[in-house]
Amino acid sequence: MQHKLSSGIIVIFGASGDLTARKLLPAIFSLYLQNSLTEKNLILGVARSKLSDDDFRAKMKESLLIEYPENGSKIDEFLSQVFYQAIDIYKDKGYAILNDRIDAIKKAYDLQSNLLFYLSTPPSLYYEIPSHLAKLGLNEQSDGYKRLIIEKPFGVDETSACKLNKHLLQYFDESQLFRIDHYLGKETVQNLLVFRFANAIFEPLWNASHIENVQIYANEAIGLESRAGYYDQNGAIRDMIQNHLLQLLGIVAMEAPAKMDAYSIRNETLKVFQSIRRFKTAKDIKENVVVAQYEAGCIQGEIKGSYKDEEGVAANSTTETYAAIRFFIDNWRWHDVPFYVRTGKRLKQRATEVVINFKATPHPFFSQIQKITKFKNQLVIRIQPDEGIKLSFAVKEPGAGFKTHEVDMGFYYSDFAQKTMPAAYERLILDALQGDNTLFARNDAVEACWNIIDPIVQYLSKHGKEMIHTYPSGSNGPKEADNMLSERGHQWRNPTSQFKNN
Ligand code: BG6
Repeated sequence: MQHKLSSGIIVIFGASGDLTARKLLPAIFSLYLQNSLTEKNLILGVARSKLSDDDFRAKMKESLLIEYPENGSKIDEFLSQVFYQAIDIYKDKGYAILNDRIDAIKKAYDLQSNLLFYLSTPPSLYYEIPSHLAKLGLNEQSDGYKRLIIEKPFGVDETSACKLNKHLLQYFDESQLFRIDHYLGKETVQNLLVFRFANAIFEPLWNASHIENVQIYANEAIGLESRAGYYDQNGAIRDMIQNHLLQLLGIVAMEAPAKMDAYSIRNETLKVFQSIRRFKTAKDIKENVVVAQYEAGCIQGEIKGSYKDEEGVAANSTTETYAAIRFFIDNWRWHDVPFYVRTGKRLKQRATEVVINFKATPHPFFSQIQKITKFKNQLVIRIQPDEGIKLSFAVKEPGAGFKTHEVDMGFYYSDFAQKTMPAAYERLILDALQGDNTLFARNDAVEACWNIIDPIVQYLSKHGKEMIHTYPSGSNGPKEADNMLSERGHQWRNPTSQFKNN
C-alpha cells in the first residue's frame, strides 16, 4: 500500500478554525519531525480572516507548543514553510488571488504542481470551494495531482450525501476524493485487518456458529465542548454511528478481501453495509434503538450539568447524546448475531472497544458444578486509550474439585518499544499525499451508511420526545440500553480505565 511521495502544496481551507490548530498542523508537524515527508510539501492556510503569514505562524506556534513544548526551534523551522492567504471564499476574485499565491510559492520553492486541498470548513462550503477550484482548472491533473480531502459530516442523510457526491464527481474523479473518517486512521483500527487476516486461528471462529454477539462502542467522558450549534442539530447517531462506528463494524464483519488494496477492502466493507438489516417499521426502531440524553452527575469527582444546561442547547431539545442500536447482518456469516453498537457523551469511562463474545460450550458441566452462569470466552480489542487486545478463558483453580477461574491473555501496545501511537490524522494526511485512499470512505459506502440510519433519525425527528431517555453524567448509560441486551441474556461490557490490569 506504499505509494510514492512527491513535492507540492497542502492547501487548507478553514485554516483559522479549531481543527487546523488542534489536529491538522500538529499531524503534519509530527510527519515533518519523523522525516516522513521525504519530499517538500509546504502548507498554505486559507480562510476569510485577515492575517499575515507571521500572524498565522504565531497562532500555529502557540498550539504546536502545547503538544511539543521541547521542540521550539524545530517548530520555527517547520513554520517557515507555512503560509497564509486571506480570500473571499464566495468570490471568483478570491480564488484568482489564491491561484497566484500557489504559483508564487511553487516557483519560489521549486515545487511540482501537486496540490492537496483540505476542506476543513463548514459543510455548506463543500459546494462552493470545489466548483471554484474547477473553474480555475485546479482539478486538472495533467501537470500533477489535484486531490481533495473532505471532513465529516458528509451530508446529513442519504439524499444530501448523494447530491454532494454528484456535485464533487462533476469536477473530481473518485480517486481524487478523500472523505475522511479519522477512526480509519487509528492504528488499532488498522490492526483489526492484520489481526483478522494475518492469523489463521481466529477466522474459523469468526461467524454465527461460534460468536454469540458483538459489541462495538465509543464511550466518551467529554460533553459538548462548545459545539452545541453543530451537535444539537445532529446528535450521537449522525455524529458517531453513521460514520466511525459503522466503518468499524464494516471491518469487523467483512469477508477477506481479494487483495489488501483500497478497491478490494472497500468492496468488502460495502457488502457489509448493504447486508445490514434495514429498520422498516416503528416496531423495528422501538425494539432495537435506545436513545438518551445526559443529566447532571459526577465524573471523576467533578459535578457536571445536564445536556439541556449546555450553552446553545434548546430547552426542549430531544437530541440524543447517547445511542445504542442492535444491528443484524443478513448474510451467511452473521445470520442472527446481534451487533450492539453504542456511543455516548459524559459516560463514566472514555473507551472505544470491539468486543467479541463467543458462545458457551454446548454442555457446560463446570458451570453446573459451580452453579454459575455459563462461562463465555470474550475477545476485547481496545481501540483507545490504553490500546491492546485481550482474550479471556477459564482455567482450573489449584486444589481439590473443579473450580474454574477466569484469566486473560493479552497484548498491550504499551509493551512495544515504540511507545507513541501515531495520531490518526498523521496517517491519513500521509496516505492522501501518497494517493492511497484505502482508509477513506468511498461514495457508495457513505451513501449506504446513511441509508441504514436514515429511517432511525427520521423516526426520532418526529418521535424524539417519546423515545428519549436520560442517564446521569458519569454513569454507564441508561438502564433501557441494558434491558435491550438482557432480553437475549446478553450484557454490555463496561470498560474500565486500566485495560491492562482489569
Ligand atoms: C468526532 C465527533 O468525529 O469524533 C466528536 O464529531 C467525537 O463528537 C470525536 O468526540 C471522537 O473522536 P476520538 O478520536 O476522540 O474518539
